[in-house]
Amino acid sequence: MYRTEPEGGPDAKIMDIAINSEQLYGELEKLASFTDAPPPAVTRVVFSKTDLAARAYIKELCIAANLVIREDAIGNLFARWPGSAPGLPAIGTGSHTDAIPHAGLYDGTVGVLGGIEAIRALQRGGYEPRRSIELVMFTSEEPTRFGIGCLGSRLLSGSLALERALALADSDGRSLDQVRTAAGFTGALDNVVLPGGYYDTFLELHVEQGPVLEQRNIPVGVVAAIAAPASLRVWIEGEGGHAGAVLMPQRRDALLAAAEIALAVESAAKSTGVIDTVATTGVCDVFPGAVNSIPSRVKLEIDVRDIDLARRDIVLRAIDRAIDEAAERRGVQVRKEVLNADPPAQSSRRAVDTLTQSCEALGIPSLPMVSRAYHDSLFMSRITDVAMLFVRCRAGISHRPDEYASPEDIAIGTMVLAHALAQLSRT
Ligand code: GLV
Ligand code: MN
Ligand code: MN
Repeated sequence: MYRTEPEGGPDAKIMDIAINSEQLYGELEKLASFTDAPPPAVTRVVFSKTDLAARAYIKELCIAANLVIREDAIGNLFARWPGSAPGLPAIGTGSHTDAIPHAGLYDGTVGVLGGIEAIRALQRGGYEPRRSIELVMFTSEEPTRFGIGCLGSRLLSGSLALERALALADSDGRSLDQVRTAAGFTGALDNVVLPGGYYDTFLELHVEQGPVLEQRNIPVGVVAAIAAPASLRVWIEGEGGHAGAVLMPQRRDALLAAAEIALAVESAAKSTGVIDTVATTGVCDVFPGAVNSIPSRVKLEIDVRDIDLARRDIVLRAIDRAIDEAAERRGVQVRKEVLNADPPAQSSRRAVDTLTQSCEALGIPSLPMVSRAYHDSLFMSRITDVAMLFVRCRAGISHRPDEYASPEDIAIGTMVLAHALAQLSRT
């Protein structure tokens, strides 16, 4: 148990927060057992059987904590601890449980299970919220299946037009609508948008996914801003043929054009001269994929981010030009699609101050920081005040099976979250 020291005075009840670190860590490990990759790797793609089983487990935990649950048509899960003034905008917290292929145990899950434990800790401490406190598990924060991240939070914040959502399909050509319906989420998608004033504040607990807290020897960070993410898909059409028979001067190899594009993506990111610009070609699907056949078609997916929007967009334009130039040089056709190009998000001063003050009240050192990864909070910031609390992780490793955050640091983050939720929900 991680326990605050109960103090006298008006805060006495709030300060009696005991985090059951063993239970929380056990739940994180149990959730990691829902995986389509051999452990310790976690693969949990949205609306797969494994994702649905993991969701059922989270729902069980929410019900056991006496939370009132509902799911919307895209599968966002809301688990509410009703306050004594249930009509007031609620205090939200949560994150995601889907995991990219071959991921680790902590990304997103710490914010969902930590959020549940924060609520349970407040319940155990006898705290009675005035505003309702609501745990959210967002659908498909990861872009793995439909190419676009934060599907659930984009839709509930009204940040993704319905026509665009309906046009999304997975790599088997199954539309989002077919897939979510088959997964049991059958309501009308246009009902997913939350009414104005639904939340008063949203706080997201998440592992840092970077090295800063570990380097500074500080357990938690309070996030002031989230970097601007963008992603592109590029289809390249060359000409296939026999790897022995077609001579080199006659070739229009789609993979070689793709290789030039991937190198240009790297150069474009480096050309800003600023460490905050990053770009990655993370998907390269080659058709037909036979050693003795010249690649005729390639699909690339490219991810570009910066904390500065204008600079991110300069890089996007440089990549766009480089794609055309590579196509020209290699005699291939290209089709480009911008999947998303989102602006950065600023946390709210009030929410940041609340988290910082909770750290101070609990005697926990914290660091102001920016998030280079994106999170559902990027989109929650469009409808409510948002701040994130980062938990130190080992060597900044994330999106890998060896991602790690210690049970102690997770408990500390959860305790700060519980304290902040209590502060916000009593006003
Ligand atoms: C989220 O997983 C991201 O890619 O930042
Ligand atoms: Mn992730
Ligand atoms: Mn995440």
